[in-house]
Amino acid sequence: MKLNINGADVEVEADADTPLLWVLREQLGMTGTKFGCGIGQCGACTVHLNGQPIRSCIMPASALVGQTLTTIEGLDHPVQQAWLEEQVPQCGYCQSGQLMAAASLLNNNRKPSDEDIGKWMTNLCRCGTYDRIRKGIHAASEAMPEPVLPMPDLEAGPPGGEAGPPEGETGPPAPADGGAE
Ligand code: FES
Ligand code: FES
Repeated sequence: MKLNINGADVEVEADADTPLLWVLREQLGMTGTKFGCGIGQCGACTVHLNGQPIRSCIMPASALVGQTLTTIEGLDHPVQQAWLEEQVPQCGYCQSGQLMAAASLLNNNRKPSDEDIGKWMTNLCRCGTYDRIRKGIHAASEAMPEPVLPMPDLEAGPPGGEAGPPEGETGPPAPADGGAE
């Protein structure tokens, strides 16, 4: 089967039910993704599937043909610098999974609250680095540029409708000075 990993197509031989984690580590030698529990609980094996985190120990590789996969070896994200600056890891074993989870959080939510972080970051750390993980995520959030919103095509109007303000609205608010030059 052919998988797309970190931007490259790779041909792998595996039974249909072989978990992705085994393909990564045993066949491709990509040992940055770790084996922890093997039952989808700890998050040490987290990779991205089309940009979203998955636990590769319980994901059959055959289900991922035609999808885009990113592992820690292919991650390029501000969380990595923030992890260095905040000295997040202790033993380090869980940290590639933590980085993958943190990067996906920030890609979905540029300014997460502590509560958002608590809900999203379900990866376990036996060294208890949770406070530093939270600090690292906030530091990366500060370092990330504001998203650039695409300019609307004013000539074309809103998608699927006529140009003009949405129904029930009369348009942009009048200037506070009444519009005087
Ligand atoms: S090794 Fe996959 S979740 Fe623990
Ligand atoms: S840093 Fe040791 S398990 Fe997380």
